[in-house]
Amino acid sequence: MEKYYSPAEHVLATFVRQSKKELPLFSLEVGDIVSLFPEQNPAFLGAGKDPRKTLSDIPTGTVYEKSKTSLTVAFNQELPDWLLAATESAHRDLTFQLHKSINRVTYKRMREALDAVYQTQNTRLALFRDISLQDEKPSLKKIAAEKIQWQDRGLNASQKEAVRMALAAKDVALVHGPPGTGKTTALLELMSQSILLKESIFATAPSNTACDNILEKLVEKGINAVRLGHPARISVALREHTLDFKLALHPMAKTISGIEAELGRLFKKEDRARQRRSPGREAERELRGQITQLKQEIKSMKRDIFERVMSEAEVIVGTPASIQDKAIRDKMFDLLVIDEATQATEPITWIPMTRARKVIMAGDHFQLPPTVRSKEAEERGLGKTLFERYYDILPDEFKKLLERQYRMNEKIMGFSSREFYKNLLIADESVRNKTLSDLPGVKKCPATQAPLIFIDTAGKGFEEKLEEGSQSRYNPEEAELVLSELGKILSFGMPPEEIAVISPYSAQVRLLASKTPDSRVEIDSVDGFQGREKELVIVSLVRSNMEGEMGFLNDTRRMNVAMTRAKKKLIVIGDSATLSSLKFYSDFMKYAEETGSYKSAWEL
Ligand SMILES: Nc1ncnc2c1ncn2[C@@H]1O[C@H](COP(=O)(O)OP(=O)(O)OP(=O)(O)O)[C@@H](O)[C@H]1O
Ligand SMILES: [Mg+2]
Repeated sequence: MEKYYSPAEHVLATFVRQSKKELPLFSLEVGDIVSLFPEQNPAFLGAGKDPRKTLSDIPTGTVYEKSKTSLTVAFNQELPDWLLAATESAHRDLTFQLHKSINRVTYKRMREALDAVYQTQNTRLALFRDISLQDEKPSLKKIAAEKIQWQDRGLNASQKEAVRMALAAKDVALVHGPPGTGKTTALLELMSQSILLKESIFATAPSNTACDNILEKLVEKGINAVRLGHPARISVALREHTLDFKLALHPMAKTISGIEAELGRLFKKEDRARQRRSPGREAERELRGQITQLKQEIKSMKRDIFERVMSEAEVIVGTPASIQDKAIRDKMFDLLVIDEATQATEPITWIPMTRARKVIMAGDHFQLPPTVRSKEAEERGLGKTLFERYYDILPDEFKKLLERQYRMNEKIMGFSSREFYKNLLIADESVRNKTLSDLPGVKKCPATQAPLIFIDTAGKGFEEKLEEGSQSRYNPEEAELVLSELGKILSFGMPPEEIAVISPYSAQVRLLASKTPDSRVEIDSVDGFQGREKELVIVSLVRSNMEGEMGFLNDTRRMNVAMTRAKKKLIVIGDSATLSSLKFYSDFMKYAEETGSYKSAWEL
């Protein structure tokens, strides 16, 4: 184990296996919360007791970085003595166990929010609750569309109408629509408008990916946004916008380091004076006074930096539970924006609603549903989101549907539109017939001109396998095929940053990531691409078995998300013999045949 500090003052500790070998494929992931247990009884390290028995001594942290052979964990608190001792060279060979643990804080905040919802009277929260129970009616201000100064001039008429509605709604309104129809884009315009009105804004979404997506787009627009949450769970490119980093990297923070260094010198002086045992009362008092003064200076400068960073922020972005973080605990927001609201359970959604005067949600009933592990809880109501409840009862003036999409080639869109949206989805002229060959530097050839391909591996003898430890599935031969398709397309000049490889199985994701020819190609689970898009998407379905067992593939809403991330080309790879047991996939294969997009792996 080694110890050092991150810019955001977390204590970072790096762990390697005792054998120094590579970590197994199915180990912890960046962002996981872990508890650290010593394997030896650390009594000899001076702790005097077995920390396994005293839970308070067990530090918890967040996996911050991961390499082939090491894991770095960020700890928020100072490390206990027994652990610090382990960083000294004499104890370098001590071993530890990192246990994955759950984030209890979120559950606590959900419970608190629900209690508040039950009890509150005469508050905005009470109104949100009563509207959801149809005991109160939502209300509107009058706002004429001509009065609005559009910040994004490219919005279509429906998006403008959605923004106008959101500005006019006094309490709650919903924007909904299929993938790529510009829901998030409309929310961004709403926030720009709200900034002009000097309103305070909290923007949230139920996953870190979706929050990062909002943050990235705010930053692109030059809006000052602060991201709450642990930097480890936030994409590296965006970490400079986290509160932790903004505080640590603030120009005034340098002055603090200077004072801290000075303070260190004074402490040493004090120590030396003590050892000499003849400090002299006067000198001792003076030294103490200086130390106290510097400490106070540091404290007030830190507070100053914090206040500056927060007051400069036009939008605060974070997951729903982060609204209860200490940094903003007492703040009421004029506007709460919830993207991907159809993926959040009702208790999660209530957390930020306890602190807002108005809430605008965007979502799609046919994309990722909330994850509810208990079947019973799901059936008894947790499966239904607050978005859906509002959707069922709100009058039409509070809901706006978007139907024109600006992401996908028409052939990529067609199947999703037919399967989920009654064929109502329209591809805008600007994207309808675009293929990879339209991208600068990409060679024109059949592979870059076909927008959709289903590669059928039936009869190839590719077999799914169960990954030990994680119980996730992978399919090594299918992975080889994915990589060879990837290699081909890269050789045609396709920029790697514009390619995504998506699999619903984390074991397949890990396998593919460990073998990718180019680390700039993004390889992740469906959830990692929520709300996002790439020019080319390759989907690896993994399942191939005699029994027609489909597991995760049964979740067709998840598959809808995977397939609608592609702008100009979608390649789906799977085994028709296994897939055809579910109508969704037999429909997809039929669609592929009709559109001339079917290919057997034998033909490659
Ligand atoms: N009016 C518009 N004109 C041109 N492009 C647009 C317009 N609205 C949105 N876009 C573009 O279309 C793409 C999809 O938009 P956006 O991400 O806002 O859709 P979404 O409805 O939020 O999708 P998802 O359901 O996947 O979250 C983006 O590249 C966005 O920049
Ligand atoms: Mg979106």
